[in-house]
Amino acid sequence: MQPSIPPSPISPPLAGARAYPAGGLAFPHRDLTGIGLLARHEILFLLDEAEQWVELNRQSQKRAGLLSGLTIINAFFENSTRTLLSFEIAGKRLGADVVNMHAATSSVKKGETLIDTAMTLNAMRADAIVIRHASSGAVRLIAGKVDCPVLNAGDGQHEHPTQALLDALTIRQALHLPRGSDLNGLIVTICGDILHSRVARSNILSLTALGAVVRVCAPPALMPAEIEAMGVTVFHDFDAALKGANVVMMLRLQQERMQGQFIPSPREYRHLYGLTLDRLARAEPDALVMHPGPMNRGVEIDSQVADHPTRSLITHQVECGVAIRMACLDVLTRRARGVAGWESQPSSPAGAAYGAPA
Ligand code: NCD
Repeated sequence: MQPSIPPSPISPPLAGARAYPAGGLAFPHRDLTGIGLLARHEILFLLDEAEQWVELNRQSQKRAGLLSGLTIINAFFENSTRTLLSFEIAGKRLGADVVNMHAATSSVKKGETLIDTAMTLNAMRADAIVIRHASSGAVRLIAGKVDCPVLNAGDGQHEHPTQALLDALTIRQALHLPRGSDLNGLIVTICGDILHSRVARSNILSLTALGAVVRVCAPPALMPAEIEAMGVTVFHDFDAALKGANVVMMLRLQQERMQGQFIPSPREYRHLYGLTLDRLARAEPDALVMHPGPMNRGVEIDSQVADHPTRSLITHQVECGVAIRMACLDVLTRRARGVAGWESQPSSPAGAAYGAPA
């Protein structure tokens, strides 16, 4: 069931106010390695492109042949369920041949270097490579070594750009905001293991670029130093962080990235930072709840909240994930497919500086 959505706290843009640069100038990047390299209008362009795929994915016939004949390699050096499946479904719905490489069964386990793996994938003439890796910066490294577009599906604690895009699209759809809209004035509270979270980083970059007011909340041990420089307000008291929030984004404790004891116990963590129905009442009356998954029910989020029929957007996030990945795969392969107007897209991984005017 889709949530019944509260009235938008945001004023919609003037009709037709947003126009993008023509053709490939709308997204002049070969790769998608991070939100930090994107200008505001480029983020909006990808969100707008994804809207058509949300619609297609709701039809019984879901196939578009745009990428027919292209090969996409999903190279996942770190475990994943939803992101890998989402990219695989996205590529297949667009008609591409999609191949998944799991690091657990690959030559990486035999000591092959990342660069050698990248060169091998390149020699197989993939048309796009989607990479998840446990090291921050690994995706950029590979992007510099291969000849095709590279998409970051999460690199260490650095970025997870498609997650941030799908989250922005989910919010925009939930608030019934039309194409071209940003999230100006929306108060978004992100709570959890901010320190280890690439989802938090990419979301902070994207939400602030779209005009949202972003609050981050975590125990001091799980809050990165000087995160205020990213334009967010820091909270350690969850109740205070919730007051006035329109959207509450919960994050998992990333135990696999923790070296040492960061929290006294899951029970104590839940007491202070778990999202219960009672606690959600401190946010705006119709505040929406998000979680990128995987969830630890009963720790950072209670089932009553996660499964709430009108407040939880969690399944809608998964739905928007496929659409966003379809949009990214389409846009990044336009140059290679010879789409009119996209010939001049640069072949290097460089991009416009973050914060460039729309
Ligand atoms: C996140 C990730 O892998 O960064 N999950 C996801 O992509 N849906 C968050 C997490 O692992 O907690």
